Amino acid sequence: HYVHYYATIDSTQNKCQELAKAGAPEGTLVVTDEQIGGKGRLGRVWHSPPGAGISMSLLLRPTLELQKCPQLTLLTAVAIVETFREFCGIDAQIKWPNDILIDRKKVCGILTELNAESDRIHFLIIGMGLNVNTLPEQFPDEVRDVATSLRIAKGEALRRVPIIQQILFRLEELYELYLAQGFAPVKERWERCAITIGKKVTIRTLQGSLSGYAEGIDDAGVLLVRQEDGAVTKVYSADVEI
Ligand code: BTN
Repeated sequence: HYVHYYATIDSTQNKCQELAKAGAPEGTLVVTDEQIGGKGRLGRVWHSPPGAGISMSLLLRPTLELQKCPQLTLLTAVAIVETFREFCGIDAQIKWPNDILIDRKKVCGILTELNAESDRIHFLIIGMGLNVNTLPEQFPDEVRDVATSLRIAKGEALRRVPIIQQILFRLEELYELYLAQGFAPVKERWERCAITIGKKVTIRTLQGSLSGYAEGIDDAGVLLVRQEDGAVTKVYSADVEI
């Protein structure tokens, strides 16, 4: 079976990794109602109170060059934003590389973890954390002002299972399109969902920060930032302020 459901778990990423190492097939999904050790990017904690969100991790085994992996994070973000827009009737945007925003507040984060050896990918785990029915008081103090949920945006509670189904349908469709035709058609759809492009941004990385104009992404999914002197910097991974 492909879907592994747990009422409570430390992190769906860890469980999915365990299954992957034991030989689970591509398409294996771990989904839970409550995570007690949810992981965000850059070692951050991801809060998933019971009943409120969608926390799931999907196993992929693409035959792909290592440097193309970020494209799959972008592809996942498109599946989620298209679901919010077309299925939930809620406008949302992608903030490069992997945050999804409603009214400039974060509603969803994506964490892609890679298991590879030299240039060979063994597997890839795409973790998705969505705030669905979370109420403002359920967010921890430190994120309350910058986080939102589908329920807050829509003014009513939403059923989670149909949303999971829609995201997975779209993800599968986009993944097949990507394997057959490459990143170009996905990139086109990503651009329709993105908020970062065409804006002045500040990029923060461990190496420091830089400000400039976000011109777009290249064919690898790398963000291109033009500075005042005209030089274009390629940004592979960062926190972006818009
Ligand atoms: C981020 O914005 O920093 C990424 C958040 C990713 C959270 C999801 S929830 C399901 C999966 N399991 C985890 O432990 N993390 C991801």
